[in-house]
Amino acid sequence: MGLLTYNISDDELEIVTLNAIEEGKGIGTALLDEVETHAKMKKCSRVWLITTNDNIDALRFYQKRQYEIKSVHRYAIEESRKIKPQLPFVGKYGIPIRDEIEMEKLL
Ligand SMILES: CC(C)(COP(=O)(O)OP(=O)(O)OC[C@H]1O[C@@H](n2cnc3c(N)ncnc32)[C@H](O)[C@@H]1OP(=O)(O)O)[C@@H](O)C(=O)NCCC(=O)NCCS
Repeated sequence: MGLLTYNISDDELEIVTLNAIEEGKGIGTALLDEVETHAKMKKCSRVWLITTNDNIDALRFYQKRQYEIKSVHRYAIEESRKIKPQLPFVGKYGIPIRDEIEMEKLL
């Protein structure tokens, strides 16, 4: 139904990917709750992730679940494209993909 992948480094848990096959059915919330419980068990101080400026759905989803914007890396995707040229130029809702946005929730 969905998949969340993560990496723990130092005392921080990074959500690397989060995908729900069917959206709006509580799958994303369930996976997020579970990984936060795991992060607390592992004594992590925060959960963080990177999303892109076009991903309005993710910005909404995380902000409604107590995640805050930590930093914005403007034009970071242009750098990523040098390594991964297949990255699309236009993302969700026809928005140009340009910036990386770091979000976090302190535990
Ligand atoms: C972002 C993403 C992971 C969210 O997952 P999701 O499973 O759709 O999220 P949920 O269903 O838990 O919550 C979404 C909304 O549906 C609502 N919802 C939850 N269960 C529901 C149900 N049974 N019936 C109807 N609506 C429901 C929630 O209230 C929520 O609304 P809110 O944000 O206003 O609170 C998903 O949209 C996705 O896979 N996106 C593509 C990949 C992506 O962008 N990943 C994140 C990159 S960092």
